[in-house]
Amino acid sequence: MSFTPIEDVIDGRHEGEHVDIRGWVYRKRESKDTVFLVIRDATNIVQCTVKRGSSAWSVAKEVTIESSVNLSGIVRGDKRAPGGFEISTDKLSIIGLAEVFPITKDQSEEFLRDVRHLWLRSQRMGAIMKVRSEVLNFVHEFFKKRGFVGVSPPMFISSACEGGATLFGLKYFDKDLYLTQSAQLHLEVLIYSLEKVYCVAPSFRAEKSRTIRHLSEYWHVEAEQAFTTIEDMMSLQEDLVSYVCHRVAEECKKELESLGVDAEKLAKVNTPFKRITYDDALKLLQKRGFKIEWGEDFGFEEERVLAEEFGYVFVYAYPKRIKAFYCKTYRENSELAMSVDLIVPRIGELTTGGARVDDKEELIERLEEFGLKQEDYEWYIDLRRYGTVPHTGFGLGVERLLAWMLNLESVMDTIPFPRTIRRFYP
Ligand code: 4AD
Ligand code: MG
Repeated sequence: MSFTPIEDVIDGRHEGEHVDIRGWVYRKRESKDTVFLVIRDATNIVQCTVKRGSSAWSVAKEVTIESSVNLSGIVRGDKRAPGGFEISTDKLSIIGLAEVFPITKDQSEEFLRDVRHLWLRSQRMGAIMKVRSEVLNFVHEFFKKRGFVGVSPPMFISSACEGGATLFGLKYFDKDLYLTQSAQLHLEVLIYSLEKVYCVAPSFRAEKSRTIRHLSEYWHVEAEQAFTTIEDMMSLQEDLVSYVCHRVAEECKKELESLGVDAEKLAKVNTPFKRITYDDALKLLQKRGFKIEWGEDFGFEEERVLAEEFGYVFVYAYPKRIKAFYCKTYRENSELAMSVDLIVPRIGELTTGGARVDDKEELIERLEEFGLKQEDYEWYIDLRRYGTVPHTGFGLGVERLLAWMLNLESVMDTIPFPRTIRRFYP
């Protein structure tokens, strides 16, 4: 037996025809002589009417919200029905009768996260998951067009990339290892054969604070490119972000509309993005009353103000002491790191990237300054021993990108099973 996707019913191509659909009961309402069922499948929802006296009547009375069903009937145009078409039902059978569904109207975000495994059935989460899937497709599409090779980095790692505070340790047989925080160091290995590489992979951070932009497991788009400058890298990042926004605006119209997102706004995310130095950003923040000294990092509040001022903006040339050991410094001023953050409204930092130390002696010095053991990084130092090249790269959090693009309250709403200090079930 073949079933018609509800999307095809709603676009009118089956008007007047008899169709078989299957899915789940999304809404149910009864009047004296009619049961109105809204059925959902993966593609859309459709209203189905069951009249008293039809052979489907008793099943329609019995069926509950979220029961799975097969339903058959004639498609009719009806302006009052959501989507403009409804099905006059003549056959209805229950596949799995649902118990009383715990999600009803107006429940708190917290409750909906507690029952995430059921809330994922909502139209809203469905739309977000479809956009998420497309965003990942467009990321791959972008890098393919630019001649990058997609690579698969390891998740178990023996040397930290982003500092000890957020490292997840684990027992690996009888050794102590970590979950990766970033694929960057391994991507750097691969540029020596492939030159332009990228990956989309999970990163893990033991983030203890609860914020709207931190997860302990997130998906990380990272790229690394040989023979490049920090300017090349900023161009690559802004091209990627605007490409993804434009493609989503074109291809996800239905989902954007259902989420109340203005596609036009995404279509207008154009390059080049503004670029300002850390020093200029600091002056502006001090003028706005922030008590922040040179050398301190910007927090969420500072980034929020910068984004309000500029929209999306690259901040570059940070004090080296607030950036990672691998950051290259400027020849004119060795206190400044060639490191850049892309700041966007509401979310703040969307990406971090930069130029990497490419000199062996300097790298060894930096490891020492950071209290890292040289022996743990011998493989990484080898890259500077054998044919070193200037190179740059960046990392972008997929959940932050989605939360920004879709105006969502938290990164938690962009991933099916968010992991935070408190959430790991189911
Ligand atoms: O700024 P981060 O820590 O930079 C790096 O990991 C570099 N090694 C990346 C690189 O150059 N290849 O992380 C990069 C991005 C952040 O800008 C943010 O978007 C995201 O990853 N991110 C998180 N997203 C969600 N939850 C967290 N806890 C995140 N930590 C970082
Ligand atoms: Mg960062």
